[in-house]
Amino acid sequence: MKKTAITYGTFDLFHYGHLRLFQRIKEFSDYLIVAVSTDEFNQLKGKKTIIPFENRIEIVKNIRYVDKVIAEESWDQKLNDIKNYNVNFLVMGDDWKGKFDELNNYCEVIYLPRTDGISSSLLKNSLSGFRNLDISSINSALEILQQIRNQLS
Ligand code: CTP
Repeated sequence: MKKTAITYGTFDLFHYGHLRLFQRIKEFSDYLIVAVSTDEFNQLKGKKTIIPFENRIEIVKNIRYVDKVIAEESWDQKLNDIKNYNVNFLVMGDDWKGKFDELNNYCEVIYLPRTDGISSSLLKNSLSGFRNLDISSINSALEILQQIRNQLS
């Protein structure tokens, strides 16, 4: 019988950890539904994204492992989604371990290990690092690069 999985997340600055999550879910399920958090829901969670909801959901929808996308608008929609879409597996990264165990009464809750070394926050931090560079530090970096170039030539 066809097995349906669902997963939830913001998926800002879509990265390899997100891709690996979908890939691994598709190893044990046939149909993957991804619920992408809306900008309003993120605001409620205290999360500010770089990429707006319409773009984030469009990106996720076009990943080949994903069969359907829906909006995640509240914490408590999971049970409805599980019932509406006849979900067999609710899958989350293990940063959520234990948080959704009560839903085991309705489907199998699985926490997969996160992929090491990458996250949207990490990407955001490196971007803001660049944004905060002032013109004089950019100039000194250019000067150092020029010196290296001179030494090499
Ligand atoms: N995820 C993962 N491996 C990563 C990053 C995320 O498996 N390296 C999983 C999370 O566990 C979650 C889903 O991807 O189930 C969506 O996570 P999301 O919060 O959108 O991504 P993060 O990169 O964790 O974002 P942030 O840094 O803002 O928490």
